[in-house]
Amino acid sequence: MSDTESDTASSLGDIIEDASEADTTTFKCLFCDEQWSRVPDMLTHCKKEHTFDVEDNIKKLGQDVDELTIIKLVNYLRLESQKSIEPKDIKVDTETLADDKYLQPTLPDDALLFELGDLMPNPDSRVVDYDEYEAALQRNIGEGVEKLTLDNDRDVDYFESYKGNAIHREMIEDRVRTEGYRDFIEKNAELFKGKTVLDVGCGTGILSLFCARAGAKRVLAVDNSDIAKRARENIARNGYEDKIQVIQGRVEDFHTQRMIGKEKVDIIISEWMGYGLLFEGMLDSVLRARDLYLKEDGLMVPSHCTMRIAPISDKAWIEDASGEKFWKDVYGFDFSSMIPGGVLNDREIGVFDVPSKTISGEPCTFYQLDLKNIQIRDLDFTAPFSTKLGSDTASIEAFAIWFDTFFLPNPKTPGAAAVDIAKWGANGEPGLGFSTGPYSTPTHWHQAVLLLSEEDRKKEVKRDGTLKGRVAYKKPKRDDRGIDVTVEWEAEGAQGPVKGSLKRTMA
Ligand SMILES: C[S@@+](CC[C@H](N)C(=O)[O-])C[C@H]1O[C@@H](n2cnc3c(N)ncnc32)[C@H](O)[C@@H]1O
Ligand SMILES: [Zn+2]
Repeated sequence: MSDTESDTASSLGDIIEDASEADTTTFKCLFCDEQWSRVPDMLTHCKKEHTFDVEDNIKKLGQDVDELTIIKLVNYLRLESQKSIEPKDIKVDTETLADDKYLQPTLPDDALLFELGDLMPNPDSRVVDYDEYEAALQRNIGEGVEKLTLDNDRDVDYFESYKGNAIHREMIEDRVRTEGYRDFIEKNAELFKGKTVLDVGCGTGILSLFCARAGAKRVLAVDNSDIAKRARENIARNGYEDKIQVIQGRVEDFHTQRMIGKEKVDIIISEWMGYGLLFEGMLDSVLRARDLYLKEDGLMVPSHCTMRIAPISDKAWIEDASGEKFWKDVYGFDFSSMIPGGVLNDREIGVFDVPSKTISGEPCTFYQLDLKNIQIRDLDFTAPFSTKLGSDTASIEAFAIWFDTFFLPNPKTPGAAAVDIAKWGANGEPGLGFSTGPYSTPTHWHQAVLLLSEEDRKKEVKRDGTLKGRVAYKKPKRDDRGIDVTVEWEAEGAQGPVKGSLKRTMA
């Protein structure tokens, strides 16, 4: 590339450099889930663990094999392996790799496609031209061609669900949420003045517009759903098209990386929270975006979340919520067989506005997320909790889980540190955060409710006693967007300790 070209060309080359410098970049094995920070180590592993010699296979393709063929090879090997074909049985030849359908990345964010150097048989072969690659992709992956990305059905449904108006209206109309973001931005406008902001999952563009109105220099608004088209219109209609650039795509995908360019951003803003905080798994994407695009001293908005749990002991409310009361007397008939199919049952997590009077113990913060530092692996966790039961609590019916969201301008400033986010839990401190708990204005997140088993609901606990336990969040295998929540608990009973446990899913 000549000097002039490198000045004007896309900054992809620099992104590649940045990505390989950052110690967070990992290369997924071609055949299993193991991750490696260096390509040669990954290749050695393929040889040893999967008896597949990648370099040997590439040699067979000839000295002059080009980068696009190597890209196809990577996608082809990953694809075959997804079909559970044993690595040693995968046939690699030029005819197979002539098919341009393998240009389509098999993994949505495959770092290996940006790091082909170690795979090229000839060290002098020219640097991969990603413009050429993208052009080829556009040409060849037209309508009707089998789509080969890891777009699993769940992801397709997920992004489809964000394409219509109703869901965005519901979110915007949730004033606790929208005004929580707005107040933070407007009360801290000096943080946004002249800054570059990345809005992960911009939806209609509302948060990007708040940032631009507060003085941000440039806002990158990314959304993979078709709502991005509306965002573009909303932004233009309000005269912000010179400040806000809408990119339709997954934030972690490489074409988004290209569009964003090599400059890192000062601020990442995102409204990623789901039921029970982590349902939908969008936080994974936000953390990937943080690792890819945020400056070292950049700001995450929001900056922290805390997760809280409290017991529920109100039998009448539970009977109502679980449908027990309704189905037990339908015009004089007993329709109890209908109860297990209700929204509150012994398999799934229910979502309700839990009246605060049903809460029978002190809410306890069991997990804190510092968005600047938390890792994706920390989102599968087990954490202890403890609560003091009320004086009229004789048994436990369910647990309620909710979260509070914080906007701290800079976690290092003394003022921010003085805020004890673990104890904070009320609405009405604009610019600081909001609670989605049963003591605050209801939000569209409501609270997650986990019903105890019928047997555990019968256990007698000591009034005024302590209830202790552990909460575990885990992503179910093969469903990154769901959550399995397990609660194990122990309380003082009339005759010694009483124990119970439950596992519920949100799917
Ligand atoms: C909860 S909505 C928030 C929308 C908007 N920011 C607001 O506050 O009204 C989340 C949005 O993120 C988008 N999204 C989720 N994961 C994404 C990803 N990995 N890449 C791009 N967009 C994503 C969804 O399509 C959805 O529109
Ligand atoms: Zn492997």
